[in-house]
Amino acid sequence: MSLNSEWLEIIYEIQNCKKCRLHENRINTVPGEGPLTAKVVLIGEAPGRKEDEVGSPFVGPAGRLLNTLLENSGLKREEVFITNIVKCRPPGNRKPRRDEISQCLGYLGRQLRLIKPRVLILLGNTAAETIYGLSGVEWHGMMRDHGKIFEINVYGVKTISIPTFHPAAALYNPRLRTILLEDFTKVVKPVIEELDKTFTQP
Ligand code: URA
Ligand code: SF4
Repeated sequence: MSLNSEWLEIIYEIQNCKKCRLHENRINTVPGEGPLTAKVVLIGEAPGRKEDEVGSPFVGPAGRLLNTLLENSGLKREEVFITNIVKCRPPGNRKPRRDEISQCLGYLGRQLRLIKPRVLILLGNTAAETIYGLSGVEWHGMMRDHGKIFEINVYGVKTISIPTFHPAAALYNPRLRTILLEDFTKVVKPVIEELDKTFTQP
């Protein structure tokens, strides 16, 4: 199966998915967006209200902050792939439950195997806990481990991963916002620059 037809198959399955209770209240599924050739993949928690209305990830207030963070680290939104741990909005924006996450994870696994990112940016504890749980990394929580670089193998894909706070958590918390901005400028940016170097060298 070609890259594109496998991709369309994943989208089709997500759009028709009723594997967990989150399908009951959704307006749209939010499979994720970006080029399949992206070197950088960002993973959030779950679609919010605006994302559910539109069907695209990070298009609400948290998305605007994410755009600033990407810009600050020299990344264009169009060149990264953005998705979430679960593809449907939990009612009232509650956290996705463990069983919902485990029902949905197969889609993320297939997305990652298709895209094979070089860098994975994990936005918030749900994304970090889930991905590190799958890759056998001991996770001590965001306060202690944000902005660190972990080499992981997740779904057979070897990649660098960087956990940081969720943009939504930083919206009304100036202290977290400062840390998040620093993680992107002091950790994500140099990692991306290093990546660009290895790609431009003959
Ligand atoms: N929060 C998330 O985790 N994902 C989105 O797509 C939007 C808000
Ligand atoms: Fe299916 Fe995932 Fe939506 Fe649950 S959240 S219904 S598993 S696509």
